[in-house]
Amino acid sequence: MISMKIFLDSANVEKIKKAASMGLVDGVTTNPTIIMKEGRDHKAVIKEISSIIDGPVSVEGVGSTAEQLVKDAREFVKWGKNIVAKIPMTQEGLKAVRILSKEGIKTNVTLVFSASQGLLAAKAGASYISPFVGRLDDISEDGMELIADLTQILANYDCETEIIVASVRHPLHVVQAAKLGAHIATLPPDVFDKLFSHPLTDKGIRQFEEDYKKAQAQAKK
Ligand code: E4P
Repeated sequence: MISMKIFLDSANVEKIKKAASMGLVDGVTTNPTIIMKEGRDHKAVIKEISSIIDGPVSVEGVGSTAEQLVKDAREFVKWGKNIVAKIPMTQEGLKAVRILSKEGIKTNVTLVFSASQGLLAAKAGASYISPFVGRLDDISEDGMELIADLTQILANYDCETEIIVASVRHPLHVVQAAKLGAHIATLPPDVFDKLFSHPLTDKGIRQFEEDYKKAQAQAKK
């Protein structure tokens, strides 16, 4: 791996296309809230995203039993070659993960808020686990401490499960995730855009443009 992978946490096709055109987006994650914000049919929007992005596209259902979650996941993977079934971190969810992993269906265990949850999800055979750092910070817990714990735990056992740092709120979360060696961070498009910016870069560009024009004018004298 050259660097931490970057996923977009969005179902906005225009924003996904824009970011993907830079060659810096390795996958997409969605959830029912993200889909709802687009006001589009779930299946149609996921199929479109799956055709734009080569990497994994996580799709989440809402069933509470392993049976329902497995049924939904089997349907979701028909929507594209790169679909990953997002499964909630519950006992029924991990039962579903075990069944799906035996069928070769990739899973992303979501709503992970503790190291013990992440450990169990990895043991169940999850392809990805999604610890939510922003929502932990929101309740005065340290989201990044969880990432530190999980990166250490998975490395101890040479585990194939990858950590997707989720519920990212700002560029510092992204930098901290990379410093801790997380495999992936999934970013809302506005956070992705913010990664590029620095006021001194903008100031420097303006200065160089002005000086270039001055130099051209002097050369003409
Ligand atoms: C991750 O897969 C989730 O979709 C997402 O990161 C949740 O973020 P939020 O806490 O900003 O809703």
